Amino acid sequence: MPGEMRHPFRVVIVTGVPGVGKTTVLSHLERLAEDRGVKVKIVNFGTYMLETALKEGLVKHRDEMRKLPLRRQLELQRHAARRIAEDAARELGEEGYLLIDTHALVKTVAGYWPGLPRHVLEELKPDMIAVIEASPEEVAARQARDKTRVRSDIGGAEGAARLMEYARAAAFASAVHYASTVAIVENREGKAEEAAAALLDLMVNL
Ligand code: AP5
Repeated sequence: MPGEMRHPFRVVIVTGVPGVGKTTVLSHLERLAEDRGVKVKIVNFGTYMLETALKEGLVKHRDEMRKLPLRRQLELQRHAARRIAEDAARELGEEGYLLIDTHALVKTVAGYWPGLPRHVLEELKPDMIAVIEASPEEVAARQARDKTRVRSDIGGAEGAARLMEYARAAAFASAVHYASTVAIVENREGKAEEAAAALLDLMVNL
């Protein structure tokens, strides 16, 4: 295995529009993986960015980050990718899986922006980019139910449909750089555990 193309552990980047259910699916996957004796480390890219953004007094809440000037977001993105790779290298061996909860595309105040550009991929070297999807109406309903978050800037079902279309294309574009597979996983209403099982079945073949 050429060293520059892969980490010793497997890397699965999990993407999807805000509120589609990435975090929910990953919490089911963590339990299913444990049952099957599969070692996983799950991290949230936005949480790494937020730690730095809070420390620097740039934001008070994670949903404010995509409203920062782009140059600021770029620095947060670069720093997060490097720290995630370093932490995983310390904690995972060759049998482990790093799962990263993040975005292939971010709707920012300056336009649609890639969550997985070259400098991020160079750190993460993904074996797989998973795209979690649901119908735009389901996504909008989940966003509305989730009172802990501010996602009104996504634009409801219409905005989610557009973002989902562009984000799928962005995931395929990012996959080219490190020969990653792209897995489209449906997170149907009330079926997050099934989505987690489907993703786990795919990733154990990496
Ligand atoms: P992040 O925190 O990842 O933002 P998000 O996608 O808006 O939020 P979540 O990840 O919490 O949503 P989710 O899809 O996981 O849905 P959830 O499981 O909560 O990122 C924050 C910010 O960080 C970004 O906006 C950006 O600024 C920045 N960022 C991150 N990565 C970046 C990158 N690579 N580059 C640059 N910036 C980056 O579920 C939502 C609701 O739906 C819940 O109530 C849940 O119970 C419900 N639900 C889930 N699944 C189902 C189901 N199957 N049936 C019924 N209800 C369901």
